[in-house]
Amino acid sequence: MTPLLTIESLGVTYRGRGTERRAVDGVSFALEPGETVALVGASGSGKTATALSVLRLLPGNARVDAASRIRFEGTELFAASNEAVRAIRGRRIAMVFQEPATALNPRMRILDQVAEPALAHGERSATAARALAMTMLEQMGLADAARVARSYPHELSGGERQRVVIAMALLLHPALLVADEPTSALDVTVRAQILDLLRERQRATGMALLFVSHDLAVVASMCDRTLVMHDGRIDEDAPTRRLWTAQHSPYAADLVRAASGNVVARGEGGE
Ligand SMILES: Nc1ncnc2c1ncn2[C@@H]1O[C@H](COP(=O)(O)OP(=O)(O)O)[C@@H](O)[C@H]1O
Ligand SMILES: [Mg+2]
Repeated sequence: MTPLLTIESLGVTYRGRGTERRAVDGVSFALEPGETVALVGASGSGKTATALSVLRLLPGNARVDAASRIRFEGTELFAASNEAVRAIRGRRIAMVFQEPATALNPRMRILDQVAEPALAHGERSATAARALAMTMLEQMGLADAARVARSYPHELSGGERQRVVIAMALLLHPALLVADEPTSALDVTVRAQILDLLRERQRATGMALLFVSHDLAVVASMCDRTLVMHDGRIDEDAPTRRLWTAQHSPYAADLVRAASGNVVARGEGGE
């Protein structure tokens, strides 16, 4: 199979006032269509910088190595025009970040926001875009999708907001969803529900998923493969199930130890 996404020698350096921070240092990996891969590592290990690179959304003070390559569905992302990248972003690659509140416009009704990617990618009819958005909201496991649709973000719970953000991300049926700590801001019960939703949507649509987390327990139940990141590098690339019993790197062992308290995720990981 041709990989959906190929990252080769990704290097990212952040520049500050007289300082430089090497956030990503020679990261290479590939994702097959439909594959679910976890990118796990301690805070500051370079996970978000890697995720943002895939979307070409790094902040202005970030420099990417000249030799870095990211190929997605035949496009070299770093060589592509802004227009070409915008055509991919939100349509072929979608993203969900940690904090659902920041992803939503406080002054816009939910239905209109969820419909936005359709309008941004060429749908001329607002009515058709809203209909598409409503259909997607109805698949998000909301107790009352119609109420959520006419609400403003502040009228919703954190879990509802994250379901809305996921609906927006999935609206145009992306081939790849990049989810960066999508449940870290949620309490444990809601977190489990959102993970269920993501897993169910991934299985129903066959999209590939790059799931970023600092917690191995969170990703264990949904990712076939886990990449362990430490200090800007991929330390380990292993089937998730194997990682629980054997780790090559001490950082992977740390993650397993930290996650071992989470009995639920371990049980699901062995299914
Ligand atoms: N906008 C930024 N400017 C400068 N340094 C940054 C910026 N974003 C992240 N960093 C630094 O880059 C490193 C990697 O950060 P990040 O990719 O956010 O890690 P993670 O997502 O694994 O927690 C960290 O040392 C972090 O402090
Ligand atoms: Mg991060």
